[in-house]
Amino acid sequence: MAFRSKPSFMIFLLFSASMPVLADSDSGRESLISPDEFLQSEGAPSKEQLSIVNELYLKDVKPIFEKKCLSCHGSMSEADLPWYYPIPGVRQLIDQDIAEAKKHVDMSNDFPFGGHGDAAADLNAIKKSIEEGNMPPFRYRVMHWGSAINSNDKEKIFRWIEQSLMIFAEDEGAK
Ligand code: HEC
Repeated sequence: MAFRSKPSFMIFLLFSASMPVLADSDSGRESLISPDEFLQSEGAPSKEQLSIVNELYLKDVKPIFEKKCLSCHGSMSEADLPWYYPIPGVRQLIDQDIAEAKKHVDMSNDFPFGGHGDAAADLNAIKKSIEEGNMPPFRYRVMHWGSAINSNDKEKIFRWIEQSLMIFAEDEGAK
């Protein structure tokens, strides 16, 4: 079978579960976020607050996430998936990644994101994952040189998160 060639086996290795152990920045991934670490805002943000935060997201952050996060956390057509996606074995691993990623943070419909966290929790989880260099996962960065978050991206994402948390913290009466 043509797919049993060496390169596809190498790719399988890259995606295998043992990989994070080899990557220093990925160690401790399991303990990435514990719920009590989330900065909780008082009450749920209003519709207005959420829509301001989404506007900022669309302008400054989505262009970065489109390249570096949405292939797992958002809706991607098959054409946007990596060239190695159809390789038997790899496809299942990528599908698993996508399902797992969206369970945590689903960015398909912009902000507020879906998944298990509320708006502020998601912002804090994103901040933490970028600070710790956990996202995109190491095995994905290996296959996509250039998918790592650079300092320019980081600055924009952190500024958005800070602004957003300030907007959420604003007095309801002030709106
Ligand atoms: C290759 C697929 C993939 C890409 C690309 C990716 N992620 Fe993830 N992400 C996952 C998976 C799988 C999980 C759930 C398991 C885990 O935490 O590793 C996850 C979890 C998360 C979480 C939740 C962490 C938690 O503990 O709740 C955040 C936040 C996150 N990703 C942010 C991002 C951001 C921001 C980017 C882009 C810079 C990104 N991810 C790119 C696969 C991906």
